[in-house]
Amino acid sequence: MRVLVISAHESFRLAVQTACMRFDGAIISLRLADTVGQGMELAHQIEAETVFIDLTRSVEAGLIAIGQLAEVRSRLVAASIDKLTPDVLQRAVRAGAQELLAQPVAEEEVHQILRKALRHQGVDHGREERAGRLVVTFSSKGGVGKTTLTCNLAHVLAQSLGDHRVAIVDANTQAPNIASMLDLRPERWLSDAVAEYRRIDGEMLRGFMTAHPGGMDVLAHSADNPLEVDFQEDQLSKILLVSKGTYDFTMVDTFPILSSLNLALLDLADQVLLVTEAVVPAIRSARYNLQILRQAGYGPNRITVVVNRYTRFRGNVPPDLVAAALDWPVDVVLGYDVHATIAANAGRTLMDAFPDQRLADEIRLLAGRLTGEVPATPWTPSLIERMTRFVRGV
Ligand SMILES: Nc1ncnc2c1ncn2[C@@H]1O[C@H](COP(=O)(O)OP(=O)(O)O)[C@@H](O)[C@H]1O
Ligand SMILES: [Mg+2]
Repeated sequence: MRVLVISAHESFRLAVQTACMRFDGAIISLRLADTVGQGMELAHQIEAETVFIDLTRSVEAGLIAIGQLAEVRSRLVAASIDKLTPDVLQRAVRAGAQELLAQPVAEEEVHQILRKALRHQGVDHGREERAGRLVVTFSSKGGVGKTTLTCNLAHVLAQSLGDHRVAIVDANTQAPNIASMLDLRPERWLSDAVAEYRRIDGEMLRGFMTAHPGGMDVLAHSADNPLEVDFQEDQLSKILLVSKGTYDFTMVDTFPILSSLNLALLDLADQVLLVTEAVVPAIRSARYNLQILRQAGYGPNRITVVVNRYTRFRGNVPPDLVAAALDWPVDVVLGYDVHATIAANAGRTLMDAFPDQRLADEIRLLAGRLTGEVPATPWTPSLIERMTRFVRGV
């Protein structure tokens, strides 16, 4: 199906692009036009079957355009405007708009319209929808194991899914180290992808990746002068969404700070791995992060709390108490293992260098949770309640 967007608004275009990416590239082809004039010409040229038109800039011209676009009876026209007043709404419908979208345009609404249009065209898209998953590793404390986990989980996933099905994006904008952790010497970088972010698609993105012998494709960020590039939220968001539409799994490493950039990335995540340690400062920081994420509407189904580098010794905080202190279930506990560091020093993953270590097994289990092969352990409030009472001494 040929889809056309007539809008100069980046967020409008992004919403439609993202919704289109949920379908197989062979099913939908998308073209963009900045102005009504350009759009009319393009609609005619490509015989657009679905047109999303933004009336915000020029209502009158836009309404005339809708009338002309709707003359092609099999075409679906969806109109949008920043202020949907009853008057404009009525005129748009009279002109021939079949769908109306409020702004900011929600990707989900666009997706529904596309499904409807495809049904209308008799295209069976049922099995074709892509469901790539975006996993963001986060903590607002450094040195807890985010990069280690990102690399190792990606490696496990690539081992089971095959080559070029799993991507790693180094979105650690200030201290990137995926390339050195994996001993890669990339020729193309995240900054190259950012420079092309407006027109980037799956194929272009693949061109910016560095292949790891373990099967993952890595979009690395240069450690030489990382702050040279001032990444914008919409730039990284676009790249992650294209990656989600291209790879089965996209694993994203982050810089430890609760910035608006990171919140934008977390917002796109299907799953957030919140990494912490059983050490008071790390627990405090994780508790704060969870409070913010909870306020933003995240529930336990989107956040997996991982306690990393755990050892049992007198005076250490056991995982149950970590959960009580976090006021959030601890989903996964990964043991302390020096092989993680030995592998990193050799530029290898633990999976590659020491696959028989217990920590490697634990990471494989966590990967299984991400793919859904290993059921998530149900969270038990009664136990946590008991622990909370214990901690508070009541
Ligand atoms: N489970 C673990 N056991 C022992 N050391 C670990 C473990 N996970 C990570 N490390 C080590 O901890 C250090 C910090 O890990 P890293 O992944 O760079 O953290 P972050 O990305 O959060 O800053 C590294 O030296 C790494 O090898
Ligand atoms: Mg790191």
